[in-house]
Amino acid sequence: MQKRRISVVSAGLSQPSSTRLLADRLTDATVRRLTESGVEVEVELVELRDVAKDVTNNLLTGFPSPRLSSVIEAVSTADGLIAVTPIFTTSYSGLFKSFIDVLDPQALGDLPVLIGATGGTERHSLALDYAMRPLFNYLHAVVVPTAVYAASGDWGAAENGSSSSLPDRIERAAGELAMLVEGSERSSLVRDPFALPAGFSPVGGFGAQ
Ligand SMILES: Cc1cc2nc3c(=O)[nH]c(=O)nc-3n(C[C@H](O)[C@H](O)[C@H](O)COP(=O)(O)O)c2cc1C
Repeated sequence: MQKRRISVVSAGLSQPSSTRLLADRLTDATVRRLTESGVEVEVELVELRDVAKDVTNNLLTGFPSPRLSSVIEAVSTADGLIAVTPIFTTSYSGLFKSFIDVLDPQALGDLPVLIGATGGTERHSLALDYAMRPLFNYLHAVVVPTAVYAASGDWGAAENGSSSSLPDRIERAAGELAMLVEGSERSSLVRDPFALPAGFSPVGGFGAQ
């Protein structure tokens, strides 16, 4: 049986968190699709609130803690990523962006990504397409066409029979991600642990030449 590894990043701050709930639903649907196709799946989930201080320290010092290092390693070498953020002031949260900022800019290249977000109002659903999608496109990840937004009102309306209900959107997005994850060989690539990040210059830091 083939084996694939999926990383799940949830940037929700509340406990319980609707962002985590959406991340779990997306994960369950993706794992089910892959299992049905005969693919064995390993899932690693991180709630960014648990490493929030490590992320801030990494921004200040330039070095990740051992705990953050293993999260970064898991995300960078995964076959697929499910990334879910709460919408704060019409965009991804600051914590979510700070986590992206501590990754090597090349780390997400060719990585299949399913993007999701939660918000108080459905009027901010486009943040997925004007903020989250361009962010991952810039990092050369492969973002699946269906992005999943859940406003507070979507949770109760799950079984209203509408063709674009939250469960329908979750299923469609999960199917798209599962297809890409199945074809991915990222987690089995051998990487050089001593390689310098692309763009690094010994005299002037990043982008100096
Ligand atoms: C500082 C702050 C700003 C927010 N801004 C928005 C916003 O612009 N649009 C929106 O739809 N919801 C906004 N919200 C609501 C959150 O996106 C929403 O409650 C989210 O689902 C919380 O996720 P959590 O339960 O995982 O913490 C904001 C909440 C906070 C705390």
